[in-house]
Amino acid sequence: MTDALLAPDLSASLKDREADLFFHTYARLPLELSHGDGCYLYTRDGRKFLDLIAGVGVNALGYGNARVINAIESQSKKFIHSSNLFLIDAQFRLASKLLELTGFSKVFFSNSGAEAIEGAIKLSRKWARTVSDTKRQVLSLTNGFHGRTYGAVTLTAKAKYHEGFEPLLPETGYITFNDVQDLEAKVSDNTAAVFLEFVQGEGGICAVSRVFVEKLFELREKHNFLVVADEVQAGCGRTGTFFAYMNFGVQPDVICAAKPLGGGLPLGAVIGNTRVAETFTKGVHGTTFGGNPVACAAGVALIEELLEKNLMENALHVGAYFKTELEKLARKHIQIRAVRQYGLMVGISVSRDASYYVEKLLEHGVIVNATNSNVIRLLPPLTLTEADAETAISALDDVFSKEWSA
Ligand SMILES: Cc1ncc(COP(=O)(O)O)c(C=O)c1O
Repeated sequence: MTDALLAPDLSASLKDREADLFFHTYARLPLELSHGDGCYLYTRDGRKFLDLIAGVGVNALGYGNARVINAIESQSKKFIHSSNLFLIDAQFRLASKLLELTGFSKVFFSNSGAEAIEGAIKLSRKWARTVSDTKRQVLSLTNGFHGRTYGAVTLTAKAKYHEGFEPLLPETGYITFNDVQDLEAKVSDNTAAVFLEFVQGEGGICAVSRVFVEKLFELREKHNFLVVADEVQAGCGRTGTFFAYMNFGVQPDVICAAKPLGGGLPLGAVIGNTRVAETFTKGVHGTTFGGNPVACAAGVALIEELLEKNLMENALHVGAYFKTELEKLARKHIQIRAVRQYGLMVGISVSRDASYYVEKLLEHGVIVNATNSNVIRLLPPLTLTEADAETAISALDDVFSKEWSA
């Protein structure tokens, strides 16, 4: 046992003790947090940061939202956990809202995004057996991301997430992102489902093309498979509609949601339309914690705030401001290769490893994230104001300007 475990020195920096306590899975920012307020995070040593990554897209209402806190407090006083052995009012309220917003039929609550994806894979295979015994293939798109559990990581078409974990889930495959010909070649009557993010997050903020979407839904009719929308990152208002698929004028069969869904608490959902409404029967799927009452109560508060405070409109407005200003920066700084923006999902493609900018922006009091190696990703709270965005733009301008003199 290490010294840190035997006698942890609480005055030592957390960064110094991290390696003693944890598996080395994360490259954490060197910040020891004290608290958050709105779109800002504060550290134990008194520094203030504009948070443009918001707990990797979770904190859609920023920090300290009163309605969420009240919902958590009030449900916690009643009971924090009960399990799905009971009928839980908060689950009913959240499920009703989700079905109302989507026009779908049924909800299954999980704890996380990956667990929602696992549920949707099982739902797809179970549904497909009602059509044919050979209908088992589950496809996803290259450049996508669906999580770290076995099924989810199998659907994530990136070798770096697979190395050492093989064999992965059988009867799966990848369609090249936005490649209509490849889509036509890969799907068949044996396809049970195609999983996709309508706007890819980890992949660098890339939207599927309209032609690809049109062909996908045409082939769904021909080959009778399910379309599963992974809305874990793009969903819950971020792109200006409640779910990102709603921007494309189509109706998937299954939606996976998570991240902001529990108002900051762990919560995911598999939402199905009438095609799959009877697929999950008693005992075929389950979870101890999924649909936790406190997380569901916070989720109801999240949706009420999104709608009452017009936060999806705000995401569109502030997102458009980002796009305009970033395009101005792109004309000024050759390091910027492309700007992609869907509501408050923003990707700035740059000519070097984006982690350089993460570090530099941190020195300017702005927290961003690097994804897909050379993309600076912004997933700020949907409460972000234009003034906050202006602060971020001026920090970016400064960092890009000083890069060559550094
Ligand atoms: C699109 C997408 N799907 C699934 C997941 C997995 O979600 P979780 O980390 O909650 O398991 C993520 C996480 O980043 C995601 O972005």
